[in-house]
Amino acid sequence: MRTVEIIDQKRNGQELTPEQISHLIEGYCSGRIPDYQMAAFAMAVVWQGMTIAETEALTRSMIASGDTVSLKEISKPTVDKHSTGGVGDKTTLVVGPLATALGVAVPKLSGRGLGHTGGTLDKLESIPGFRTRLELPEFIATVNKVGMAVASPTANLVPADQLLYALRDATATVRSLPLIASSIMSKKLAVETDAISLDVKVGEGAFFRTLDEAREFSKIAVELGSRMGRKVHCMLTSMDSPLGRAIGNSIEVKEAIDTLHGNGPSDFTELCLSAATTMVSLLRPAETEASIREQLEKAVGNGTAFTTFVNWITAQGGSREVLENPGLFEKAGRKITVPAPASGVVQKTHALALGNLAMALGAGRETKEQEIDHTAGIYLERKPGEKVQKGEPLATLYTNREGPSSQWEARLLDAFEIGPGEPYPIPSPILEGSPPVA
Ligand code: URA
Repeated sequence: MRTVEIIDQKRNGQELTPEQISHLIEGYCSGRIPDYQMAAFAMAVVWQGMTIAETEALTRSMIASGDTVSLKEISKPTVDKHSTGGVGDKTTLVVGPLATALGVAVPKLSGRGLGHTGGTLDKLESIPGFRTRLELPEFIATVNKVGMAVASPTANLVPADQLLYALRDATATVRSLPLIASSIMSKKLAVETDAISLDVKVGEGAFFRTLDEAREFSKIAVELGSRMGRKVHCMLTSMDSPLGRAIGNSIEVKEAIDTLHGNGPSDFTELCLSAATTMVSLLRPAETEASIREQLEKAVGNGTAFTTFVNWITAQGGSREVLENPGLFEKAGRKITVPAPASGVVQKTHALALGNLAMALGAGRETKEQEIDHTAGIYLERKPGEKVQKGEPLATLYTNREGPSSQWEARLLDAFEIGPGEPYPIPSPILEGSPPVA
């Protein structure tokens, strides 16, 4: 098989066979196919697209490039949850324990934050003692013992994606739905959960900027899952504004704890209850979603959800004392309160600008190598729909970085829009519902 002919065929819009696609992926991973040929192929896909059969073949070849995680040793039905990434997105910390409290198992491999979006592993590592590196037997044993575990992926999970993504990033070939879907889904499908619930974020702070793009991605993701015998469900949610009030690491864990106690911000609480309902429904299609939701609300109300969270975190080494008394989390050296410059109703809190500001305060990393400051972050004292009087706090910034606070305050104010009118309830982030699980 000649690589150049495969590239030529794709450039001309012809459908490739699974063998041709596997030749490319295997060749690229083994070093036989050079970067320039793979980059030319990726660009041909950007222009010509791929059929669903090609996308499936690509996803399968990518999965086959590394190890898969068998979950046969887990005694309960399993579900994974994945978000395409956003600002203030601490959902895993709440939906995992919620679904687990209802008796399903949540074995989850998670990632670190890069750029303006945070990563679940970074948030978890802000809990003293918490370990994200678990070998597979310990990962499985933890799920069997407490119902869930969240760990970092092993080095050999879909190595093709690590190589291909770096190449796409450097050659302006990231934006192609078949490439995006195979990249995201290969990493999810390599972990053999029975079901996967995807939170597809849409908006200025998200990877997908438009609803149409998110819908198209969702269609491909669900189809890939079904072709591989797995139940996949997508929920489309807004990422124009950060989720909840907290952006950072330990500050987000604290907000997750509040939410598990039933005291979370309404937008975040709604998203967690919806996502957890979907996760459980995927595994128990005979139950109505209304009944599952009721059981989840009960688990929050009677403390089971929080107990499940504590059992999970402590099983991975995290400090029980801090979870039970979040005031013990280490604090940032500087706390800067930013007052509202005018009275009115908050209309917008721009997610991308706030994510970038949190990164500037030390809460995120610009490059993979950068260390993050777990204590840094932003707390939104006001969210869209809420009233504020001139001089009242709009947000609080936490940092250990030196320098004049005026630069951060100006950026914070730029990220807020305050206008006239009556206050209204904080908008729900759920855009395309969570359609009943088929
Ligand atoms: N996230 C991924 O993991 N892969 C992509 O291709 C795009 C976003």
